[in-house]
Amino acid sequence: MREIKRIACVGAGYVGGPTMSVIAQKNPAITITVVDLNQSRIDAWNDPDLNNLPIYEPGLDAVVGEARGRNLFFSTEVDKAIAEADMIFISVNTPTKTYGKGKGQAADLKYIELCARQIARVAKDDKIVVEKSTLPVRTAATLKSILDNTGNGVNFHILSNPEFLAEGTAIPDLHHPDRVLIGGEDQEAIEALVQIYEAWVPRERILTTNLWSSELSKLVANAFLAQRVSSINAISELCEVTGANVDEVSRAIGYDSRIGSKFLKASVGFGGSCFQKDILNLVYIARSYNLTAVADYWEQVILLNDHQKERFAQHIIKTMYNTVNGKKIVFLGWAFKKDTNDTRESAAIYVADHLLEEEAEIVVYDPKVSAEQIYRDLDYLGTRSPSENRRLLTVVSDPYEALAEAHAVAILTEWDEFKHYDWSKVKGKMKKPSFVFDGRKILNRKELEDLGFQYYAIGE
Ligand code: NAI
Repeated sequence: MREIKRIACVGAGYVGGPTMSVIAQKNPAITITVVDLNQSRIDAWNDPDLNNLPIYEPGLDAVVGEARGRNLFFSTEVDKAIAEADMIFISVNTPTKTYGKGKGQAADLKYIELCARQIARVAKDDKIVVEKSTLPVRTAATLKSILDNTGNGVNFHILSNPEFLAEGTAIPDLHHPDRVLIGGEDQEAIEALVQIYEAWVPRERILTTNLWSSELSKLVANAFLAQRVSSINAISELCEVTGANVDEVSRAIGYDSRIGSKFLKASVGFGGSCFQKDILNLVYIARSYNLTAVADYWEQVILLNDHQKERFAQHIIKTMYNTVNGKKIVFLGWAFKKDTNDTRESAAIYVADHLLEEEAEIVVYDPKVSAEQIYRDLDYLGTRSPSENRRLLTVVSDPYEALAEAHAVAILTEWDEFKHYDWSKVKGKMKKPSFVFDGRKILNRKELEDLGFQYYAIGE
């Protein structure tokens, strides 16, 4: 079997960066080059100050610090890295299509195809090509066709190796994965990748399947996870009208080992780059095979999530006497979850959009998200002009400054630091009545009510 000495990874994002850093950390004899077209991203990966890495993940700085310059390199020289590699991971983005057939549902595979054509053009010897990106089932057939038809007559073996890390816990997830999944047809190629993971993952946790099961499993895993969130969020609305408490319901059902306790926390809704996009893609695939009942079933997970975000915004408006016009509402958190600076599909964006339509004055504080990113997210929606967005929404770096003279606080991300604020001091700074809308259920109702806040938490 061919020994893997050099790996290239195309795409230095939230997946390519951390995944390759850990593979390099655990396989010091393999040289890994992570490449990207985005020069500033690569510069940030190479920044001597590990606080300036382009993505924030607890523990990532230590892993990069250990491997970078030893056997881990970040570069924009894509052709060179591909040419030298024995194995190439494709870790580019696969967003939802925003144009043409499948707009709003199908995965946009243009970056994957560009990448495949580039590999085909450059490769002068046999390569193992690993799909790390999340892809529609049967994409490997497309990749193989492009590689074989546009290549230089060399052999390509395609493997599917979807990534199951969660942002915010990427490093522990990579160090101790529940499982590693490898789909493929060629046993030697599969074994080559198994060996890389075996450097730290127990063999029984490395599952091998055929290509299509592996590709589909990633979409299905995300669909099941998101479905649990939507299921409990649906129940949260029922709790609010019946006097039940969603945390108590979650606990009661979670003790049932058939159900399990994880992913049963009600919230303002799931976000992130993956859940929505991957379910939409699953729905699109089901429809393309005329499986209408299957497609409708999974689509409901998304519809309920949209409903939950809208419901939260509407509740804020209704509680504040049916008008938020000119009222100062402080958003604590903008990231889609704690311990990440990623804001893709964050619930905060959509809640803000609803409230800005009602001319609320929003002030945002997030410990890791920049003002530029927040404005980019809002401008991208195209609901109003960039200047309107900047007129109505401001971003601050001091939460207490933000809270002065505020009518309401809305918690959109479950950052731990929000729990430890001096809420008595906050109360003193805010207007009366002082509303708190806890979209993540992280504060203590009794403590806040004793301080005189009007406190709302989802599902109570
Ligand atoms: P990302 O957008 O953070 O990173 C992708 C990178 O690929 C970008 O920096 C982009 O410049 C680069 N790129 C695109 N085309 C290129 C090309 N032809 N040559 C060189 N670089 C190119 O995306 P992220 O979040 O890392 O996701 C990548 C894939 O992994 C997606 O398919 C996603 O669904 C999947 N995934 C993401 C997870 C997450 O938590 N973000 C978890 C599991 C899977």
